[in-house]
Amino acid sequence: MAKAAVETRKAFTPGKIAGLTLRNRIIRAGCFEGMCENGSCSDLLIEHHRAVAAGGTAMTTVSYCSVSEAARAYGHEMWMRKEILPDLRRLTDAVHKEGGAASVQLGHCGYFASKADTGFQPVGASRKFNLFRISFPKPMSEADINQVIQDFANAALLAREAGFDAVEIHSGHGYLLSQFLSPYTNKRTDIYGGSLENRMRFPAAVVKAVREAMGPEFPIMVKMNMTDGIKGGIEIDDAVVIAKRFEAMGASALVPSCGFTSKTPFMMMRGNLPIIEFAAADKSFMRKFGLLFFGRFMCQEFHYDDLFLMQDALKILKAVKIPVVLVGGICSVKDLETAMNAGFEFVEIGRAIIKDPDVVNKWQKGELMASDCDHCNRCVAVMNGGPVYCVCNTKGPLKRRIGSKGIDASTYRA
Ligand SMILES: Cc1cc2nc3c(=O)[nH]c(=O)nc-3n(C[C@H](O)[C@H](O)[C@H](O)COP(=O)(O)O)c2cc1C
Repeated sequence: MAKAAVETRKAFTPGKIAGLTLRNRIIRAGCFEGMCENGSCSDLLIEHHRAVAAGGTAMTTVSYCSVSEAARAYGHEMWMRKEILPDLRRLTDAVHKEGGAASVQLGHCGYFASKADTGFQPVGASRKFNLFRISFPKPMSEADINQVIQDFANAALLAREAGFDAVEIHSGHGYLLSQFLSPYTNKRTDIYGGSLENRMRFPAAVVKAVREAMGPEFPIMVKMNMTDGIKGGIEIDDAVVIAKRFEAMGASALVPSCGFTSKTPFMMMRGNLPIIEFAAADKSFMRKFGLLFFGRFMCQEFHYDDLFLMQDALKILKAVKIPVVLVGGICSVKDLETAMNAGFEFVEIGRAIIKDPDVVNKWQKGELMASDCDHCNRCVAVMNGGPVYCVCNTKGPLKRRIGSKGIDASTYRA
């Protein structure tokens, strides 16, 4: 295909989210990097996101940064605090130098927390058994809810201080805000449970508090579920109402996704279920054993199609005026074009960029038309044990070292 023809496509033209202009319409989706030993921002994490920006992506999302230490699912997740601002500032500076923008995904995992890893009692909407952790959360009190609302607002303020250009509030994938939205996990009988109106109260208050803290122009994206993929979970009709509420509370853009990490973790990704690699990456002998023998029963496999969330996401697009960011199975120039023609202002891409951080430049220059990521999902398996990388990357295996001395960035190859 002629180079000029590719470059004129809308995906490669600048676009705006609130007060932020991005150089093109492609955002790297929040994909847990596994590069935050001791909950801090490592050199490896900085290099990872610098490389994504150098590869042409307009904005890279630092994934799953917890809003407090207790909000983490695992011990090796970053949580937002003053002490890590200098390193985060190095990250955002490195991204900006490459001409990109940086966002950070802010979340609270709720009942998905591992007390053994984090030392904190998991909390949730209600006392709901979590098979992944073999644990019950403590139902949150009103004071706990107000504290978490404040934690989100504080984390967003710190993110801006660290130089981030946007934040993405995680209200999907079965994490805390999603646990309140979902009737599967929310069995409350107070003003935070029961009707959809009540279940939206806490997540909506988080978006409102972050908007009030950040002022009118700062880009606040919200990642949310269109379906939980479980009986008794939320479905698209609820999601349309939720999307409108987030818009009314001050969201600048929505990222509709799906799946519940404790029940349907591969729904949001689709493709192969890499049970053996999952077991190999897990540090706990018990979980290794459990995954090898029961993994296929605990985790459902979901068929992969390109643009697999587009049909439902179109319903969100029709319901709101703010940009809707299409995520899920965007792997080629043709997929970009289809998404833009359908009315999505932006796309988020995960695995194709993990496979090749330069993929956006290659698409834009016409050097490549499609990613050769085959959705084997072994990148998902390895991130639990250490840095995320493309296991089938043609550049060869990643030599990595994570030990008491920390992660050695010099051994990392994208
Ligand atoms: C290795 C890996 C880690 C992920 N971690 C996160 C995460 O921390 N937060 C999140 O919202 N989504 C996460 N996701 C889901 C992606 O953001 C995205 O929604 C999904 O992969 C579909 O996009 P894709 O088809 O372009 O990969 C992860 C995906 C992968 C492959």
